Amino acid sequence: MPLIAPSILACNFLRLEDECKMINESQADWFHLDVMDGRFVPNISFGLPVIEQIKTVATKTLDVHLMIVEPEKYAADFKAAGADILTVHIEACNHLHRNIQQIKGLGMKAGVAVNPHTSVALLDDVLADIDVVCLMSVNPGFGGQKFITNTLHKISKLKDRILQRNLNVLIEIDGGVTLENAAQIVNAGADVLVAGNTVFKAPNPTDAISQLKRI
Ligand code: DX5
Ligand code: ZN
Repeated sequence: MPLIAPSILACNFLRLEDECKMINESQADWFHLDVMDGRFVPNISFGLPVIEQIKTVATKTLDVHLMIVEPEKYAADFKAAGADILTVHIEACNHLHRNIQQIKGLGMKAGVAVNPHTSVALLDDVLADIDVVCLMSVNPGFGGQKFITNTLHKISKLKDRILQRNLNVLIEIDGGVTLENAAQIVNAGADVLVAGNTVFKAPNPTDAISQLKRI
């Protein structure tokens, strides 16, 4: 069964507390929180004060996806705000190994996200040090985009490398996950499904989460 991580980016921010409670009471596993700086990605979302507030009601893992440059400047602040998993982009890090050590040193799980154009082979030398690989299945910056099908090859390739080396790394898929393509994504080897629009724009979000969970 995949882990399900609803992406708050697609929720109704006027009703943030209710949306968080819906996730608490659903079969979801993680809260996926997308932080965008308008520099690494062409969009700005939300940041530390919002995550701090979510932490006061959330009863599940906070999975924070940083789409920002110089993430090392803010890692300690995200820990203080309540992040359990902190994911940085390989494309935003000149010293990725150092960033990973910093995140783990602060007591969080470390994730590395890769854009659609970035080969999973580039992760080989840090794979043993991290907890999650977030494979972007859309170009980051916006919810509601179409799943890039080449991601399926990347999932299989990465899964092989993880299994061959007997590592304990989760593969998280982020972007364009739907009730229609989720089975294919899980069959390719994904462990965690992020879902924004598929959950929050559904007539019944709790039910959409259950359907994803059952895949
Ligand atoms: C994209 C974000 C995603 C986004 C997914 O930059 O990283 O987490 O919220 O949204 P959907 O599931 O709607 O594609
Ligand atoms: Zn994300």
